[in-house]
Amino acid sequence: MCGIAGYVGKKNAVQVVIDQIARLEYRGYDSAGVAFDGPSSIKVLKSAGKLDRLRELVAKEDPQATSAIAHSRWATHGAPTDLNAHPHFDQANKIALVHNGIIENYMELKEELVRAGHTFQSETDTEVAAHLIGAEFEKGGSLEDAVRRASRKMTGAFAFVVMAESEPGKIVCARNASPLVLGFTEGESLLASDIPALLPYTRRVAILENNQVAVLTEAGIEVSTLDGKVVEPEIFEVDWDSTAAEKGGFEHFMLKEIMEQPDVVRQCLAGRIAGNEVSLDGLFSDHMWQEIDRVNIIACGTAYHAGLMGKTLFEQMLQLPTDVYFSSEFRYGDPLLSPRSLAVFISQSGETADSLAALRLCKQRRIRTLGIVNVVGSSMAREVDRVLFTQAGPEISVASTKAYLAQGIVLFLLGLHIAQVKEMPGVSVSAGVQALRNLPEAIQEATELADEMKEIAEKFAQAPLVFFLGRRADANVALEAALKLKEIAYIPTQECPAGEMKHGPLALIEQGTLAVFGATDPATRDKLISNIREVQARGGYVLAVTTSDDPSLDGVAEKVIKIRPTGDAFLNALLSIVPLQMLAYYMAHARGCEIDQPRNLAKSVTVE
Ligand code: AGP
Repeated sequence: MCGIAGYVGKKNAVQVVIDQIARLEYRGYDSAGVAFDGPSSIKVLKSAGKLDRLRELVAKEDPQATSAIAHSRWATHGAPTDLNAHPHFDQANKIALVHNGIIENYMELKEELVRAGHTFQSETDTEVAAHLIGAEFEKGGSLEDAVRRASRKMTGAFAFVVMAESEPGKIVCARNASPLVLGFTEGESLLASDIPALLPYTRRVAILENNQVAVLTEAGIEVSTLDGKVVEPEIFEVDWDSTAAEKGGFEHFMLKEIMEQPDVVRQCLAGRIAGNEVSLDGLFSDHMWQEIDRVNIIACGTAYHAGLMGKTLFEQMLQLPTDVYFSSEFRYGDPLLSPRSLAVFISQSGETADSLAALRLCKQRRIRTLGIVNVVGSSMAREVDRVLFTQAGPEISVASTKAYLAQGIVLFLLGLHIAQVKEMPGVSVSAGVQALRNLPEAIQEATELADEMKEIAEKFAQAPLVFFLGRRADANVALEAALKLKEIAYIPTQECPAGEMKHGPLALIEQGTLAVFGATDPATRDKLISNIREVQARGGYVLAVTTSDDPSLDGVAEKVIKIRPTGDAFLNALLSIVPLQMLAYYMAHARGCEIDQPRNLAKSVTVE
């Protein structure tokens, strides 16, 4: 995700940009750096670790610059080290650049630059952007011309900010999909990746749109398109306080994180699907996938629920026997592990003690390990044999939402990758890729159900018990939806496969009991309708979530919520979590609960 800041004006520019990135802490930190106009050249100070390390470096130098750019990194390419920290220089050390996002074709661009004699210090895609802009700048024209030409050569979702030694007092930035906000005030110009970093300096801001370039000087900010056409920025006045602004104007991080899921999917897929194929870097050799006879997925909480989705997927799509374990049970269960098996660890934080202990047990037993992890540089990411990052950005709310979705998507990508490598008959990788492409818009539409979910939530906010039911993949999602409600609204839940109800839990249904049915799976529709009837016959109120192309629940359930079909049953089920996350959120809200920090819970559970 990363935080970006820039300032030109009469104040101490380095202090301003460091203060700005400190206000972007919620975007994640693993290293930080600053570049500023020195007396004769651009100077860069940067360091791995927390911002205080950078503050110490700055304190020693006490720079008095009037323009500066800064960055706090949340690693996606390359470990969080001093070398990989931003800013990065071009080949001639005359242009400094900070960047947020992913440049998908950076390997191709890097190879071209290496052929032209460039050498690189870091493993980042960012340094490639710096060199590319430097190379364009040498061809002539202004810094903004070079940024325009280089931007056209890069693909992916990115935003970057540059300054050049030969053009002091000027900062240029460009945006393609990653956020950049401009701040306007008399005699000063500012930019940042998010509004909170601008608020102490100005409340007059404008969002830089995709494919736009902005030039910041003391005299003001000029915005233009990639073709050089000047455009008038739409300046607006921010009236939120800075805490609300950190949350993007949402009342809680949880709601913000639910709402940003369309972007999370884009970010998670970036560089991983091309044409009709999946391309996952850094995995095991193709030969190894032929050898694997069993997958064991090991995780806790929400990540465990994502693991259950993995089991459904691997067994149905790949006919690959898969077991899912709670990390805390796996470790003490003396598990029987085939030497040909693969252990998959799923974790948002990468620091969950139970999961790390289970990982170390697998390593001792010489079992191959793969991590599906959100936090780059975390213990799990470093200790597994191979890692796939979920690329969901920092998750602040204790209740996991966007990480779950990203974990499901990475499992789906992995399933398609294995099918591709094994050339599995009957699995259409291209259909899977197409369904993934449909996902961001389908999720966007699902987030627009917020008002409807709020209304239902308010109606049932005082419910003493809520059921979550489904079959196959929908049953897995039911477990996750129930956990969300329990942990933030403190409402007891009963969750199980819908067919199990008559073996006991049905006894708990009373007049008016809310029963939420995941009903996206057409293969089990008829049986599910029978289960719905069983609940209704005992007075239960049924809320069903299904796809909008399926009318079979109309008039059956008391309330039907419809999501847009993606073209794949697994992804449809995964997507159905979005309205259910909102249901939990609004029920907790109506009950006045502490949503982002529920009682008794912690974001990262580092004790066993
Ligand atoms: C769910 O909302 C929780 N935050 C919790 O169950 C969490 O998923 C679990 O503690 C595992 O955390 P991890 O993904 O960081 O390993």
